[in-house]
Amino acid sequence: MKSDYVEHHLQEKRHFPPPYSETAYIRNQKQYEEMYSRSLSDPDEFWLEMSNSLEWIREPEVAGKFLWSTEKNEIKHTWFEDGVLNVSANCLDRHLEHRSRQAAIVWQGDEDKNWQIIDYETLHKEVCRFANVLKTFNIKKGDRVCLYMPMVPELAIAMLACARIGAIHSVVFGGFSAESLSHRIEDSGCKLLVTANEGIRGGKKIPLKQIVDAALPASPSIESVIVLRRTVEPCSMKSGRDYWYHEYMDKAATECEPEPMEAEDPLFILYTSGSTGKPKGVVHTQAGYLLHASLSHRTIFDIQKDDIYWCTADLGWVTGHSYVVYGPLANGTTTLMFEGIPTYPDPGRCWQVVEKHRVTKFYTAPTAIRTLISHGESWPKKYDTSSLKLLGTVGEPINPETWMWYYEVIGKGKTPVVDTWWQTETGGILISPMPYCHTLKPGSAIKPFFGVEPIILREDGTECDIDEGGSLCIKKPWPGMMRTTWGNHQAFIDTYFSTYKDVYFTGDGARKDEEGDYWLLGRIDDVVNISGHRLGTAEIESALVEHEAVAEAAVVPVPDEVKGQGLYAFVTLVDTAESSHEITIELIMLLKREIGPIADMKYIQYTPRLPKTRSGKIMRRVLRKIAENDLENIGDISTLAEPELVKTLYQQRKNNEPILR
Ligand code: PRX
Repeated sequence: MKSDYVEHHLQEKRHFPPPYSETAYIRNQKQYEEMYSRSLSDPDEFWLEMSNSLEWIREPEVAGKFLWSTEKNEIKHTWFEDGVLNVSANCLDRHLEHRSRQAAIVWQGDEDKNWQIIDYETLHKEVCRFANVLKTFNIKKGDRVCLYMPMVPELAIAMLACARIGAIHSVVFGGFSAESLSHRIEDSGCKLLVTANEGIRGGKKIPLKQIVDAALPASPSIESVIVLRRTVEPCSMKSGRDYWYHEYMDKAATECEPEPMEAEDPLFILYTSGSTGKPKGVVHTQAGYLLHASLSHRTIFDIQKDDIYWCTADLGWVTGHSYVVYGPLANGTTTLMFEGIPTYPDPGRCWQVVEKHRVTKFYTAPTAIRTLISHGESWPKKYDTSSLKLLGTVGEPINPETWMWYYEVIGKGKTPVVDTWWQTETGGILISPMPYCHTLKPGSAIKPFFGVEPIILREDGTECDIDEGGSLCIKKPWPGMMRTTWGNHQAFIDTYFSTYKDVYFTGDGARKDEEGDYWLLGRIDDVVNISGHRLGTAEIESALVEHEAVAEAAVVPVPDEVKGQGLYAFVTLVDTAESSHEITIELIMLLKREIGPIADMKYIQYTPRLPKTRSGKIMRRVLRKIAENDLENIGDISTLAEPELVKTLYQQRKNNEPILR
């Protein structure tokens, strides 16, 4: 029996067969299927074989071990538990013989004239130096170090230096408030904080040290603060607590033996907020994480020797951890680190950087692509982007129209687009096409990665049929999966293993089509229930974005006396369009046509922009409150990139600007 848990209505039938590549890691469907089925039928053999791509101090003899029992309240999984290695040695030392002079990091600063190339040999020395500095500050294996820094090479250096001596890093995005910072420091009991006097982003200065000073009174676990001088601006330095980065680096030795680490020792903690509750400290360990990050990076981005690979994510997010630092460096890749934003000094910035550094693989978020679309095609056309061979997206469902623009305007219809689905919790990509193997479908994340066994469940726990929307769960652990939430294993079990029995609950809605390809439908709690039909917001938004005047759209429910809930759409138009009665009518008709008569829009509010978190996710909780005209219970908006935008949206709502039907 089909359930109505999450309905799916969007019909997307376009197909793009993969280009052929002689040198690709995964060259055809048969090869993928053989490897994928082996990864499920004989996971131990498969993963031990894959683990040969890492350099071990002691090679593991066991692969995965797990017990997932919701009933017994026991959730535990380990990978390669008898293996010993060092993550920084895997990312640096082993490349010294053959690629010491190859660029490891190409750093492009916010201002075009600030850029730097750091080869593997230099990076190795800098990491050793900072590892020695950490030791001077009495940091030992297992200690927690908080990194609250701008997007500069010193942040990657600090991460790798922690890994080198076995300290656990907790990177906090350099845009979070003092309160968010001190909460994260305290939860994990960090002893040391590394920061900078200031950060620079999109031409604006961020007073990092000032924020640190405001956070520290509430963070007694911090004993010392190391401060990088990113700009010439002075900052306060508390004697006996604050120390300059350069003063210690200048004196530090360039050799530091990597600490032998057990495969299951923690590598890092990264906080993720989710839609409710306090941020959780997601814990990732050494070997399983590194293997998942590097193998997925190598195969999904099809990394070749001469690639200049650019993932635009900040290191404050998991994408920055896995696909700017650990995955690429473990693979000996040249990874581009970008301090700026896609629209500064103008919306051509990404393509100018691609031209300047001859970027071959480019990985970004749908929200960035939609912003660039709204500024028109003239920007990418100004630059020579012919070096690009592959494009990727992550972070949100990509609307088919956004996908098509990316594929046609940026990729010229020649480069594959990989829509990669994953989470902070999953450590690396779980669902994505292999670029030279799978037929691409705009809006679909296509197939599971090796060792990943998804299952889509109805609310009652039974499995959905083909093309029926439900909750995306994963049946068994894979190497990169988080191990626990820091300091609270029960919270880990409650959050991810209590909704369904013995499977990992991702919180996302999805459906699988008749060809076994996966389509993500947004967060399962972001559905709108109209007359008993539960519609995923992602599909409705995709339909709205099909209109040429629409740059972005977010849909939330509002109470409706007759239907239970009605649709409330927040719509941002492209630069060249203005809101009008005609557009409203066209959008209403578009939804009826694409989704069905059930998708009857109750309100449309045209907004200059949408409220987004600093990682670019639309904050629907805030939009729901605005839609409900509930001005009082807006909750915490400190993680918003533009908190002041909320006032504008409220004002519009109060003035009855949204069109009521
Ligand atoms: O809802 C899914 C969405 O982002 C969530 C994970 O967010 P975070 O932990 O911040 O990690 C982001 C980077 C991996 C998921 O639960 N999401 C991520 N990628 C996709 C996506 N939704 C649809 N398609 C994607 N490709």
